[in-house]
Amino acid sequence: MNPGGVHDALDPQGPGAAAIAELWWILLAVTGSATLLTFLVIVLALWRRRTETRSAGPAQARREWIFVFVAGGVIPSVLIFVLLIASFRTGARVSVPAGETALVVQVTGHMFWWEVVYPGHGIRTANEIHVPAGVPIELEVRSADVIHSFWVPSLHGKIDMIPGHRNRFWLQADRPGTYRGLCAEFCGLQHARMAFLFIALPPDEFESWAARLSATASGPEAAPAAAVERGRTVFLDRGCGTCHVFRGLSERGETGDVGPDLTHFAERRTIGAATIANTPENLARWITEPDLVKPGSRMPATRLEADELDALLALLGKRP
Ligand code: CUA
Repeated sequence: MNPGGVHDALDPQGPGAAAIAELWWILLAVTGSATLLTFLVIVLALWRRRTETRSAGPAQARREWIFVFVAGGVIPSVLIFVLLIASFRTGARVSVPAGETALVVQVTGHMFWWEVVYPGHGIRTANEIHVPAGVPIELEVRSADVIHSFWVPSLHGKIDMIPGHRNRFWLQADRPGTYRGLCAEFCGLQHARMAFLFIALPPDEFESWAARLSATASGPEAAPAAAVERGRTVFLDRGCGTCHVFRGLSERGETGDVGPDLTHFAERRTIGAATIANTPENLARWITEPDLVKPGSRMPATRLEADELDALLALLGKRP
């Protein structure tokens, strides 16, 4: 399962994750050495207790008190203060973008998928965030239902998505690539399969992606017109439009925003929030038996005749 995308907080691909990974290594080095040293002293103490039978004189007792005070009080306090400074420094580094933000992307968490809106381009899509590489991106995150948490481990730390509240955040991918993102706050049955792809493109490729996505689609050009036409009828009559939007589909004005906007669906690499690859077979399975793919998802099963299913796949650009 789990199609596509790198997902590794310790192999940072952007300045945010790099700052956090650096702090992680500092914490590991300091706390790891402190733990090793503590165990060493314990072993030493046990060994000395076995071999030394003489009772200690007042001078030695004083030395031991000084040792306990310095090793148990002074050194830990200094170390904790150093770690405090290091985490403040990281906090400052990740809170301010590395430069002028090039783009605003609004991401809304839903049970269990991600709505992605580009207000500057008039694009509404789902479960995939395309951005230009090498520039800071501003993210505005919120939730439509419960608390979710937005996290792209290779690029930045996480941020909560809270109902009725907008959180701001920035991200940068240094190089083009596909990075896996995930929900980092337990939000229900399908929390573990609430993932997304964060796709950084060379700037010119991003521009052509944005131009394609902002155009209204009335069905893929490659599919036969008759099949697409039949697909429209199925989409509207079988209730797909209650939850989904397919821009340019009809004059009936479906405004369903319960589920992902399906305009340009064929462009997406995955189905069900990066749960399965976007292939015709998987899409057919997802439409007819979504609970087998994602138990507890909000997508109801749709009973369709074989030709209706084919027509729907043709409309979505996934003709088998
Ligand atoms: Cu959404 Cu966990």
